[in-house]
Amino acid sequence: MELLLDTAAAFAANPLRSSTALAHQSVAIYMTKPSTRTRLSSESAIAHLGGTPIFIRGDELQLGRGESIADTARIISQYCKALIIRTYDQADVDELGAHATIPVINALTDFDHPTQLLADWLTIREQFGKDISGRKFVYLGDGNNMSHAWLIMGAIMGAHVVAATPTGKWAPDPHVIEVAHTIARQSGGRVEIIHDPHAAAKDASVLYTDVWMSMGDSQDEREEKVVALSPFAVTEDLMALTQSDSVFMHCLPAHRGEEVEATVIDGTKSIVWREAYHRRTTIQSLVYHLVRGDLKGSSH
Ligand code: CP
Ligand code: NVA
Repeated sequence: MELLLDTAAAFAANPLRSSTALAHQSVAIYMTKPSTRTRLSSESAIAHLGGTPIFIRGDELQLGRGESIADTARIISQYCKALIIRTYDQADVDELGAHATIPVINALTDFDHPTQLLADWLTIREQFGKDISGRKFVYLGDGNNMSHAWLIMGAIMGAHVVAATPTGKWAPDPHVIEVAHTIARQSGGRVEIIHDPHAAAKDASVLYTDVWMSMGDSQDEREEKVVALSPFAVTEDLMALTQSDSVFMHCLPAHRGEEVEATVIDGTKSIVWREAYHRRTTIQSLVYHLVRGDLKGSSH
């Protein structure tokens, strides 16, 4: 992780420092869900490395006409140096990964959003430095893919990481919580699941949130979900409970007036634009190291 973040910081300082690393090579980006940041940052990251991004929409492969995931993985592996994929089912990404002979990067599933967290932690590091002892990093809202990624990455980074979510069906997956605890025991981190947004926000260094309705969520549940998530909206009142040097973060897209007050996301404590900027530097770092084979044996 240190290598990925350090190289991303170097790409931030000089985006073209490895501008021939992918010369004459291509990277496939396959997405069955919409994307603004992940798609554009990935395409530009690959261009900065001298490569060609090949963007493929969900309905453009023979996969949609019955070709197997395994065969698709074998074929893409023959043409491209890596595959970036955004789709619904985590099992599809795992299956592609199992049959591909090139690195497969999870660019969001219903279950996880790991590349977002690389950008988030580079931004956190810029803000607070490497010494995060005594600091609390809080996610508020839906116990969804973002909450899972937040807990796992926070645990890897040895942070005191919190998910403040409703109980019941919008709480994080219990297995993810267990894995995060296991990682934190090794890293010296601490994982907390809280259902009281005020207790979560108290003395926090970061308040982080995500949309209430994720891609693929059923609109039939919207009303019930909004009621359950409303207490977890990041308001000026919640921000007032945090440390004086605290910041607000959001993976974006944002819905002002729902999960965050406009005065918070557009206010002085918000670092969401720098966070979004680092989507490119971190994907550039990830692709660079994966294609070089520097990360063999790593997971996620
Ligand atoms: N944060 C994020 O993944 O944004 P996109 O959905 O626009 O890619
Ligand atoms: N939870 C959101 C994240 C968007 C970046 C979704 O899956 O739609």
